[in-house]
Amino acid sequence: MPSLDPVARTARLTAALRARESERPDRLFTDPLAAVLAGDIGRELADRLGDAPAIAIRTRFFDDLLTEMTGGEDGPRQLVILAAGMDTRAHRLPFPATTLYEVDRPELLRLKETLLADAPGPACRRVAVGADLAGDWPRSLAEAGFRAELPTCWLVEGLTQYLQEPDVLRLFDRITACSAPGSRLLTDFVAGSLLRDPEARPMLDALAEQGAPWHYGTDAPQSLFTERGWRVESVSFAEVGQEMGRWPQDSNAAGGYLVHAGR
Ligand SMILES: C[S@@+](CC[C@H](N)C(=O)[O-])C[C@H]1O[C@@H](n2cnc3c(N)ncnc32)[C@H](O)[C@@H]1O
Repeated sequence: MPSLDPVARTARLTAALRARESERPDRLFTDPLAAVLAGDIGRELADRLGDAPAIAIRTRFFDDLLTEMTGGEDGPRQLVILAAGMDTRAHRLPFPATTLYEVDRPELLRLKETLLADAPGPACRRVAVGADLAGDWPRSLAEAGFRAELPTCWLVEGLTQYLQEPDVLRLFDRITACSAPGSRLLTDFVAGSLLRDPEARPMLDALAEQGAPWHYGTDAPQSLFTERGWRVESVSFAEVGQEMGRWPQDSNAAGGYLVHAGR
């Protein structure tokens, strides 16, 4: 089995949290492959982290939007999941007539293929693209068949907090350059205020100790997109989580933001 760097290992942690959610009687989704993708290492990381409701909230939020967007007659027919990790939407969601590109580090995608060797195949055309998101990933995507002149639906979930600000800006510049009119972009951010919150310190320290510290957060996510010519809506994790019954009703903390942009 290929070994993973600490940030890539967080993909096994989020898989473990999706497996945990799938066992709840009031689950927000079912991810039957999450347990095998998490493995013991993912479960250990999840146990050390404790309760992390944001993962189930964002999974369900993006599941609903992706299903709505790609299901319609004239929705984008290309879906690109950047930093896909152990995402199983290719298997779990109905994406008729959609090509789904999963971009992540080559060693992570190789491990995922090994772990899913005995699993049923995906429900759409899935193309794995091993690439470094700090490098020339648009070229790797194009070589895998992606066509920048067609509308695309992008998903960037659970990534930006691990990057430094210039890398976040470069990532959205590159996505914008590859987005034809009619494209959509879904992403999430940790709140900038959370990175400075003393109550969040134990969780932040635990992530740093695992070698995957959080660097980037923002309390004004919309400007990242309006400056690049996108129409944008954003909503806090608290707001969505309270509607789903997964966030304390008396909490004033946003937690982070879920963003839906279009151009
Ligand atoms: C927290 S995981 C999120 C995975 C998935 N989107 C989810 O929500 O479960 C972060 C992912 O970012 C990927 N990643 C981080 N930096 C990367 C880079 N420079 N190039 C490619 N992938 C990267 C890691 O390999 C990992 O799969």
